[in-house]
Amino acid sequence: KASVKSRYVCTACGGISMQWAGQCPECGEWNTLEEQVQATAPAGGRGSTRVGAQYAGDSGIKRLSEVPRDQETRFPTGIGEFDRVLGGGLVAGGVVLLGGDPGIGKSTLLLEAVARVAGRHGALYVTGEESLRQVGMRAERLGVEDDGLRLLAETRVETIIELAARERPEVLVVDSIQTIHSDALGSAPGGVAQVRESAAQLVQFAKRTGTVLFLVGHVTKEGQLAGPRVLEHMVDTVLYFESDSGSRYRLLRAVKNRFGAANELGVFAMLDTGLKEVKNPSAIFLSRHEQPVPGSAILVTREGTRPLLLELQALVAESPLSNPRRLAVGLDGNRLGMLLAVLQRHAGVSTYGTDVFVNIVGGVRIAETASDLPTLLAVSSSLRDRPIPQDWVIFGEVGLAGEIRPVPNGPDRLAEAARHGFRRALVPAKNCPSPGDRPKGLEVMGVERLDAALEIVR
Ligand code: TYD
Ligand code: MG
Repeated sequence: KASVKSRYVCTACGGISMQWAGQCPECGEWNTLEEQVQATAPAGGRGSTRVGAQYAGDSGIKRLSEVPRDQETRFPTGIGEFDRVLGGGLVAGGVVLLGGDPGIGKSTLLLEAVARVAGRHGALYVTGEESLRQVGMRAERLGVEDDGLRLLAETRVETIIELAARERPEVLVVDSIQTIHSDALGSAPGGVAQVRESAAQLVQFAKRTGTVLFLVGHVTKEGQLAGPRVLEHMVDTVLYFESDSGSRYRLLRAVKNRFGAANELGVFAMLDTGLKEVKNPSAIFLSRHEQPVPGSAILVTREGTRPLLLELQALVAESPLSNPRRLAVGLDGNRLGMLLAVLQRHAGVSTYGTDVFVNIVGGVRIAETASDLPTLLAVSSSLRDRPIPQDWVIFGEVGLAGEIRPVPNGPDRLAEAARHGFRRALVPAKNCPSPGDRPKGLEVMGVERLDAALEIVR
């Protein structure tokens, strides 16, 4: 049923519309729809994406009790930090998008992980970027054995799917999705529409056959996967590989995970011999200062399912600008603005006329609110040029009324701080354990209001 039809593809998100419009109906961008002549219907057809259609006898509608439950078979890769971020291991039919800057170690991680499961489950690693020789050289460097791992250098999605269907690997890696193209579209490889179409076909293949699919995606300069707000919606799990420039530590974060905790964090170190897991990363990002320095506060954050001790630094400096700067690295910039307003209004500490810079040491990004209180105490510490003692840890959310609100998993955070030798914790009153439940050696002070917290560290 080949027919020549026009359709319109959004150059921003890859959304496909049958009619031209000034605004993309999917992402809302203006003037981004471009006409494309479609020679054939895309393989598989858009109408037949019903997952598990092969089970359906008639209408496809099932009672809940009739739905097969054995679909979520999981198998670990044996790389503990990787399995943790995945939510316990690989899931049959699960599609994982691994994003990150070029050179951060995406190919290295996947080659190592896939080689470990290849012997038992069969794996096909498709590279569209490197020659097989290059992959072979990397494998040698990593000490990866030829244990059922198959390699393919190919960029045409139809060929990849055809060969995968024949070889039947349980794990399929496509590195990277930006190099893959489909015959269904006339446009050049690398474009958003091509990325989306190729990914759609691969995802459909994975769902139909129960194959674990990894898609590697490069991040553009703007920090977004090229093309791919759309890809994030198409996959089950989105992992980002990040690092502080110059650091050999690599952070792997689940920003979305249908099979596990979002925000779970895995930590690796890039060595000559590949990526090594950092199994107990709790305190690796703490820099031990000789002397306490103003503007520095240690906080206990909880990323995913484990606590992490981090140093937060603030610098407050008189500004030459009429509109002073507020810059947050590793924290939400808008939230910083809001917190500074609370600081002024409810604690009488003004940052009017000063630049405020806040940074999380080690390149970690914090998505939770437990960093509110340490942020404001670090800002005030820098402003007054008075250090916070080095054996203190701080966490807590700050509300708009200047109240200190509790955060989840307080006992966990306190236990971690005590384990690393901290002596005092400044926490929300509602996170303050009863005297019998306090970790040994840790004095815990609960505060209800921001001004009271500032009194204590003064
Ligand atoms: P790579 O996995 O190719 O990154 P990506 O696929 O994300 O682009 O990693 C490339 C970098 O990692 C490169 O700069 C070399 C370095 N590296 C090591 O330090 N040790 C190793 O064992 C390997 C394989 C790479
Ligand atoms: Mg690569």
